[in-house]
Amino acid sequence: ISIEKFIEEIPKAELHLHIEGTFEPELLFEIAKRNNKKIKYSTIADLKNAYRFNNLQEFLDIYYAGANVLIEEKDFYDLTWAYLIKIHTQNVVHTEIFFDPQTHTDRGIPFNTVIKGIYRALEDGKNKLGITYKLILSFLRHLDEASAFNTLKEALPYKKWISGVGLDSSEVGNPPSKFERVFAKAKEEGFLTVAHAGEEGPAEYIWEALDILKVTRIDHGNRCLEDDKLVQHLAKLKIPLTLCPLSNLELKVVSDLKDHPIIKMMDKGLLVTVNSDDPAYFGGYMNENYLGITKALDLSKKQITELVKNSFKASWLTSKEKEEKI
Ligand code: ADE
Ligand code: ZN
Repeated sequence: ISIEKFIEEIPKAELHLHIEGTFEPELLFEIAKRNNKKIKYSTIADLKNAYRFNNLQEFLDIYYAGANVLIEEKDFYDLTWAYLIKIHTQNVVHTEIFFDPQTHTDRGIPFNTVIKGIYRALEDGKNKLGITYKLILSFLRHLDEASAFNTLKEALPYKKWISGVGLDSSEVGNPPSKFERVFAKAKEEGFLTVAHAGEEGPAEYIWEALDILKVTRIDHGNRCLEDDKLVQHLAKLKIPLTLCPLSNLELKVVSDLKDHPIIKMMDKGLLVTVNSDDPAYFGGYMNENYLGITKALDLSKKQITELVKNSFKASWLTSKEKEEKI
């Protein structure tokens, strides 16, 4: 079979996905309309036209503005359900998704409204589409420690719905160490931990995420390649990196997919995975990410299979569940 068909058909897992980043322009306009929320762009085409970014911050500004139209529990349900329907067509059978509660609670939307809408859709996805999931609460690193602590406190009553905590948003100037105490408390409460590090920030931030936040997985991690000792450490401990090729291209982390380090990383023994990050903004879901690197780097079916297996290995499924899925 063709390489396209091979990518489409192989059952996949996604480990780095922001639910607010799956907000497609059509649904965004629909929800804005029913909530009487004004948006800066008059047409869907105008909005799509604004999706040209020179760096992470330019993307984040538009991503947070888009999320502003989400008000009711149904909005969060519809957003999540649309994502699940989409990945079901791409044979994604397991997904571990981030949500950014502070983006909503800072606008006066109750934590309960946000998580209930997302959770109900995830449960429906499990029961009706057979997609298993984990939910990860991600702290916004441009906000302060007190805000993160407050968010963690709000999450405690929903502990059984949330598997772990993460760290995202503007990286440079907001090192992992800023959240040392929050992550220590989250761990104490039984949450697993991950953090975005080394996307735009230096290799040092990856060390901090590992040594200070004690994370078990690094989101992005591209810049580990600048530090040989770090690469050896990540390889030796099999710490997964959740790479996002189309995101890296759109945010100018790489200037061409041909320069994407994923194969170099595999050759160095790193446990790397392919993910979509914010698919509505970066031009593709899982299959487009796999196809993009496959074409740019001439990947074989064997290499694709290895990447897919890595994602299940790096997931938070139990060993028994992993065996069933791989
Ligand atoms: N929030 C959503 N996508 C992100 C990314 N790629 N990096 C940091 N924060 C994000
Ligand atoms: Zn991300």
